[in-house]
Amino acid sequence: MNTKKMVSPSLLSADFANLQRDIEMINNSQADWFHVDVMDGVFVPNISYGQPVIKYIKKHAQKPLDVHLMIVDPDRYIDSFKQVGADILTVHYEACTHLNRTIAHIKEKEMMAGVVLNPHTPVCVLEDIIQDCDMVLLMSVNPGFGGQKFIENTYNKIQQLVELRERKNPSCLIEIDGGVCVENSQKLYQYGADVLVAGSAVFGAENPVETIQKIKGLL
Ligand code: DX5
Ligand code: ZN
Repeated sequence: MNTKKMVSPSLLSADFANLQRDIEMINNSQADWFHVDVMDGVFVPNISYGQPVIKYIKKHAQKPLDVHLMIVDPDRYIDSFKQVGADILTVHYEACTHLNRTIAHIKEKEMMAGVVLNPHTPVCVLEDIIQDCDMVLLMSVNPGFGGQKFIENTYNKIQQLVELRERKNPSCLIEIDGGVCVENSQKLYQYGADVLVAGSAVFGAENPVETIQKIKGLL
């Protein structure tokens, strides 16, 4: 398996009173992207932050912003997330009525376009959209909160997604989000994940920089 072995630390678990400090830590680590979780309190039972905060994250971040939209009707905000500096924009399959149009809109704005599946949504729904995706993100917890337990069925879904990707779009990246830690990271890469999101495992660690290296399998 030709996995990219990337890590995208989730700022949801960062210290918001010391956000610049935590961003600099990621800048100086071997992390690849910043994972930025946007929650609206409707699509998920939690509210996080939106464009004004992301604009300031962008001022300090020296790596791409991987923005995960957990909001209803994301089409309304695609342009504004581009304006504040999103490089990768992922939208939930469950939140988009016209997903083909939404993906085309994200690409028109010159961002990488990704589709996210909730744990209960089968991989087969991607059959007629994966050819347009730069990335598929599989949720390995029910979205809304950091620090939840990894759902083991995710491994089966990665296998199915790898098979679909080979048939329809070999360059599509596979990202996993939720409950990722040092203990399960190597298995996830072996199954075919390219990018692992890690929030509490990184920011809750005594040594976050070292933990990022361990997740990547470099230590
Ligand atoms: C959950 C978010 C995740 C979250 C992951 O809804 O999409 O990105 O921050 O947190 P951990 O790594 O702690 O499970
Ligand atoms: Zn996320």
